[in-house]
Amino acid sequence: MHLRKAKNGDVPQIRALINEMAARTDEDHKHGHMLPRSLTELYEHIRDYTVLVSRNDGGDERVLGCCALESQWEELAELKALAVHDIVQGQGWGTMLVEAALEEAANIGVECIYTLTNKMEFFEKLDFWPINMRELPQRVWSECTNCPKFMVACDEVAMTYQGRHPKQTFIPAVGVNAPAAAHAALGLLPANGQSVLSPATAPGSTAQGPMNTNGHEPPFAPPKQ
Ligand SMILES: CC(C)(COP(=O)(O)OP(=O)(O)OC[C@H]1O[C@@H](n2cnc3c(N)ncnc32)[C@H](O)[C@@H]1OP(=O)(O)O)[C@@H](O)C(=O)NCCC(=O)NCCS
Repeated sequence: MHLRKAKNGDVPQIRALINEMAARTDEDHKHGHMLPRSLTELYEHIRDYTVLVSRNDGGDERVLGCCALESQWEELAELKALAVHDIVQGQGWGTMLVEAALEEAANIGVECIYTLTNKMEFFEKLDFWPINMRELPQRVWSECTNCPKFMVACDEVAMTYQGRHPKQTFIPAVGVNAPAAAHAALGLLPANGQSVLSPATAPGSTAQGPMNTNGHEPPFAPPKQ
């Protein structure tokens, strides 16, 4: 058995492994052991994944473990989708998958690695420390808002490797005003003839404000008539 970077051909097996764990419930995990992943998400993020594989006599590989590291900001990455098949648990493979992700983070210059987990004890052994989830930039919660446990039954703790603290607690949602920015860059007015630029993003504006609130207006606010 060995670890290697995942390939597109591994996706069905990764999905089966993760989703079996996600569907598995017990007294301590009433909503499953981890979040399920869709095929689309796995294909889109396959380069984030490392897999544990075994090879049978016929040369076919079987995926027995996986873990992903997703870069999210200059010095921030999430370790996610960690799973080790029952038949090889307790042999140190979960630890090795996490270590591979930590090594990747170091290689790309990421200092703060966090995970959202219900396996606190496992991660504590690997020098992860619980932190207040509100320290994480809001945008990393996007996955949370799609989770069936969000706001009602969340059992996950935010932990960072070596207890590091994210430097950014706010990540601008670049792109919410992309059509307006594109129109402005091209010197065009949108189809309805009215500029949709908010005071904060209009050329020459000195207004300050986070980009994902457009300064003074909520995101996606319709242009004023
Ligand atoms: C959690 C998981 C990845 C651990 O994989 P593993 O290969 O069994 O882990 P390791 O063999 O590297 O274990 C390392 C240490 O953590 C401990 N450990 C493993 N799973 C644990 C758990 N669920 N709770 C507490 N400690 C655990 C081991 O006993 C071992 O301790 P030791 O070093 O003192 O002997 C695996 O149990 C799994 O896939 N679980 C289901 C999916 C899941 O919960 N994923 C995490 C989602 S947040």
